[in-house]
Amino acid sequence: MPKRVLKVGVIGGGGGAFIVNPHQKAIHFDGTRRVTCAALHQDPDIAMSEARKWAYPIKGYPSYDAMIEAQAKLPIGERIDYALIVTPNFVHFDPAIKLVQAGIPVFCEKPITVKASEAIELAAAVKKNKVPFGIAHTYLGHWSSWFARWIITSGKLGAVRWCDSYYLQGWLATRLESEGQMQASWRTDPKMAGASCCGGDIGTHAYMQLRFLTGLEVTYVRGMIETFLKGRQLDDHFTTYCRLSNGGRALIRATQIAIGNKNNMGIEVNCEKGSLIWKQEDSERITIRLPGEPDRDYWRGEVGGSDSFLGKIPGWVADEATIPSGHGEAFHDAFARLHREFEKDVRKYNAGRKFSCDGSKYANIQDGVKHMKFVEAAVKSAKNGSKNIRL
Ligand SMILES: NC(=O)c1ccc[n+]([C@@H]2O[C@H](COP(=O)([O-])OP(=O)(O)OC[C@H]3O[C@@H](n4cnc5c(N)ncnc54)[C@H](O)[C@@H]3O)[C@@H](O)[C@H]2O)c1
Repeated sequence: MPKRVLKVGVIGGGGGAFIVNPHQKAIHFDGTRRVTCAALHQDPDIAMSEARKWAYPIKGYPSYDAMIEAQAKLPIGERIDYALIVTPNFVHFDPAIKLVQAGIPVFCEKPITVKASEAIELAAAVKKNKVPFGIAHTYLGHWSSWFARWIITSGKLGAVRWCDSYYLQGWLATRLESEGQMQASWRTDPKMAGASCCGGDIGTHAYMQLRFLTGLEVTYVRGMIETFLKGRQLDDHFTTYCRLSNGGRALIRATQIAIGNKNNMGIEVNCEKGSLIWKQEDSERITIRLPGEPDRDYWRGEVGGSDSFLGKIPGWVADEATIPSGHGEAFHDAFARLHREFEKDVRKYNAGRKFSCDGSKYANIQDGVKHMKFVEAAVKSAKNGSKNIRL
């Protein structure tokens, strides 16, 4: 029997918003999820008119409070199966905790809140209400991220010594916020973005990618947080030097003023026996470098069986060939993989079964608590002469 199509309610995303678009495409990738309702804007009239303009019929709500209240009264099967939150950072905590308290699973954008204390409160509510909660750390959804995680955490390259995890952009090299550009305006306002612009916006991705690929935690952080654009309220350049839970070291860095850089995100993981390179703008493959050997490129869709470095390759690695290699997956597929995995946990939750939500396929609420603590510690360190702060 075909699966019941899961219903998704969207919060935020009207009026020329950005990240709602890849999400809504990713929700529809498999035919097993669809957007059915939304509270698309902070202005009730715009929220309703934007819902009427949506590409296919959905039910509009004038506010997320109205949506949560109405949906919470419905039984599972009729109500939304999960909510997607794609509002600016300062509008994550309130809808998220209300949804969790109503027993509705949440897939929320990062950074999870504007303060670590809110993330901790939210995590407690998730634990108490036992609801699936996912965070949109997009890049975890690449096949190459899963593959790299398997290679590193299975010890094939030996212990991690040092990593360079970076996310370089150039779009805030001018004061776009002074022109009223929507995405720049709230990101550079501490009340709406949190303690850091660059660190919260993209430093969290570099941080999460490192933890996901290596399975290690950041235990100490030194921060250097800079603002190159005069008059800007928050940082546009975020650099940290970190100690890892195995004693290794890492540079976790991000910038938004490096002109020409689009979404130049990547990580180099240097281990005792070799190194691994992953790049988001070239995310169909990973490169392994072993001493005295030519570089090895492993391409999505071209990995299977066994080889002299990897040994036997587990089935799931080959099974993730969604389309033949050379027909590039990218950002949307990464989002789809996250929603696909989240769907599995939501279906188990609906059926009253145990679900995992363990952070191995998409980021969970504990990852959100950690990325918030990391950013706040980096900012605190920067204000105190870059002293080492324990996480
Ligand atoms: N995972 C990623 O790769 C990625 C990429 C970009 C943005 N993000 C995150 O996604 C979130 C949104 O970013 P964006 O660039 O799409 O922002 P945006 O400014 O383009 O869109 C925000 C949307 O939220 C709406 N909104 C604001 N307050 C609301 C309220 N009270 N009720 C309903 N809607 C409300 C706005 O009207 C707008 O439609 C941020 O947290 C950001 O950090 C993540």
